[in-house]
Amino acid sequence: VEPSPYTLDNAAPEAAQRFVSLSALFDPVTVRNLDGTGVSEGWRCLEVGTGGGSITRWLAGRVGATGHVLATDLDLNKFSADLPNVEARQHDIASDPLPEAEFDLVHARLVLIHVPERAQALRRMVAALRPGGWLAIEDFDMRLVATRAEDRTPADQLVNKVTAAFTVVLESRGAHSAYGRQLPRLLRESGLVDIAAEGHLPVFPGGSPGAQLHRANIEQTRDQLIATGLVTGGDIDRFLPVMADPDLILNLSMLMAVRGRRPTGGESPATAPA
Ligand SMILES: C[S@@+](CC[C@H](N)C(=O)[O-])C[C@H]1O[C@@H](n2cnc3c(N)ncnc32)[C@H](O)[C@@H]1O
Repeated sequence: VEPSPYTLDNAAPEAAQRFVSLSALFDPVTVRNLDGTGVSEGWRCLEVGTGGGSITRWLAGRVGATGHVLATDLDLNKFSADLPNVEARQHDIASDPLPEAEFDLVHARLVLIHVPERAQALRRMVAALRPGGWLAIEDFDMRLVATRAEDRTPADQLVNKVTAAFTVVLESRGAHSAYGRQLPRLLRESGLVDIAAEGHLPVFPGGSPGAQLHRANIEQTRDQLIATGLVTGGDIDRFLPVMADPDLILNLSMLMAVRGRRPTGGESPATAPA
């Protein structure tokens, strides 16, 4: 079997916790971003890298029986949305064909950061929009806030050390750790208008969904983390229970939520907000 090009492969048992945590932490942020597009009854939507499907299910409810959601992922084994207006398709956004000028809304959360061919993927997602259609993306910037805890106690320092190694592992597999902050510019350079962007930084105690997400990420990449030489197996063994300590205060990376609209042709670029 070919190894997945995606570091945090959905076949792993930790993926189930990842999707529960991402939904708890970020669905409200994504829904706010999507609400800004005006998505409503009858819209045709594409959700790229749907994962567990929480946002696909939300979109399906919003667009109703006259709308449609195409949900794609490299690996759909943790996806569920058995709904008449949802079609799920195994699909690699880097290389598989996409219809052009088809969708009122194209959305991806925490996908492009992992895709080495992200520039090409973004171009194809923009081309998939009908004129006037919206692109909405949420992605991390792992460098804008590079630590996960204060630098006060040994537990904080351990968390920050393991996190630094995790960033190195993701980068070595083609992730772009400073991608989030580039998104407003990339959308503008893609010719989109009405661009809006905000950063969201969840802060939470040990034991909460954010801590469980971080624990799942570290467990899934344990061998790769040790191979960096930056952490030992002992560091990881000490790190895992720390994620359940309610005294610890942690943060995730900054999630940048960005959207923009493909012009219909009537707009003047000079008056379009940046
Ligand atoms: C961190 S998860 C995010 C899942 C979901 N969007 C969410 O926010 O809950 C990344 C997802 O992108 C998918 N993915 C990674 N590379 C991909 C690619 N080249 N094409 C399509 N999906 C991809 C993964 O399989 C995984 O389901």
